[in-house]
Amino acid sequence: MSPLQPNRFDLEIAEQGSKISGALHMLRSQQYPPDARKGLRRFQIGEVADFMGVTQSHLRQLHAEGKGPEVETVGGRRYYTADQMLELREFLEANKKSDKRYYLPKRRAGEQMQVVSVVNFKGGSGKTTTAAHLAQYLALTGHRVLAVDLDPQASLTSLFGIQPELDETSSLYEAIRFDDEKKSIAEVIQPTNIPGLDVVPANLVLQEYEYDVPLAISSRKDDEGRLFHMRIVNALKAVDDRYDVVVIDCPPQLGYLTITALMASTGILITIHPQMLDIMSMSQFLMMLGGILTPVAEAGAEIRIEWFRYLVTRFEPTDIPQAQMVGFMQSMFAQHMLRNHILKSTAISDASIKKQTLYEVERGDFVRSTYDRAIESLNAANGEIMDLIHSAWGRK
Ligand SMILES: Nc1ncnc2c1ncn2[C@@H]1O[C@H](COP(=O)(O)OP(=O)(O)O)[C@@H](O)[C@H]1O
Ligand SMILES: [Mg+2]
Repeated sequence: MSPLQPNRFDLEIAEQGSKISGALHMLRSQQYPPDARKGLRRFQIGEVADFMGVTQSHLRQLHAEGKGPEVETVGGRRYYTADQMLELREFLEANKKSDKRYYLPKRRAGEQMQVVSVVNFKGGSGKTTTAAHLAQYLALTGHRVLAVDLDPQASLTSLFGIQPELDETSSLYEAIRFDDEKKSIAEVIQPTNIPGLDVVPANLVLQEYEYDVPLAISSRKDDEGRLFHMRIVNALKAVDDRYDVVVIDCPPQLGYLTITALMASTGILITIHPQMLDIMSMSQFLMMLGGILTPVAEAGAEIRIEWFRYLVTRFEPTDIPQAQMVGFMQSMFAQHMLRNHILKSTAISDASIKKQTLYEVERGDFVRSTYDRAIESLNAANGEIMDLIHSAWGRK
């Protein structure tokens, strides 16, 4: 189109949007072909011991005694698949000597399904990265996990290897819409490459919910509109017996999707990149959030939240202003900050280009110290969150 057509900014901007989208599509399909299906690497004995909470010598002992799954050995090293880790858990659970130990952490009678939302209205604060690694970590440590991508931009969906532009995907919208087309959430769940982890993908249609809610509030004669905040709680009831934990990746805005997710949550993670501007924006987010939740709570809605925590992400310990910002947050909210921070690492950003997390990439593809530092920070933060979930179940 000629750039000289006056006053047709509308056409020009739409054309540029579609041009960028086409070019990006090409670039992405080179890096992650449309027909690519994710596999999963095997895990070394040290990783398996960490995930299972046992010692390496315990694992070697079992192997020497011919117990547990028969694992592949390459160059004297043993490699376990994620399925074999689960098998081993079941073996250890069935043969345990102490009632105080649990090798299968799944929830038991009387323990509620936990719903953890990752929020902040700042894009780039590490929500999707946090949600993806947390959901995978919880699955690899033996929990039954459902990840829900609630961001119409679908970053979590594509990180999990589903391409909403190419694959026919439905989103949570189908399970929370107000009309007769509403389906069960069970119909929009897809498996992932990690055993124990399923996902509800996102797509642009989710955005409709932001328009549907005010319309339903003003026009419906029943209470469905006024009770919009129950829609995710109610949708999840259909799969309550299938999962221990639901992890929701929220969109970077404080709209009805985020509010509905928060009202379904038992735990909230607020991701923060420790820089002055990000913290200022977060303080506005918190004030707005309080302002929105208060009337909902005062109207008698049940608040399920058992804990909320700030999680420092993309942290660079040698960056003095960042360290000061973390100190500043800690001085105010020590009890509400996770002790462990997720470090900024090229391992994390490089892996994400290939639509992988650090639990999926091969350690050998990175500088070892870079990979190790990053994964240690992720495991430590995820372990803390797992402990909060277990405490909510009343376990020590
Ligand atoms: N700890 C980290 N180290 C390096 N890069 C990161 C880290 N966390 C996130 N990123 C990168 O920053 C970008 C934004 O992160 P993302 O998790 O998508 O944020 P959000 O979901 O809040 O918008 C992504 O490209 C991601 O790969
Ligand atoms: Mg995101």
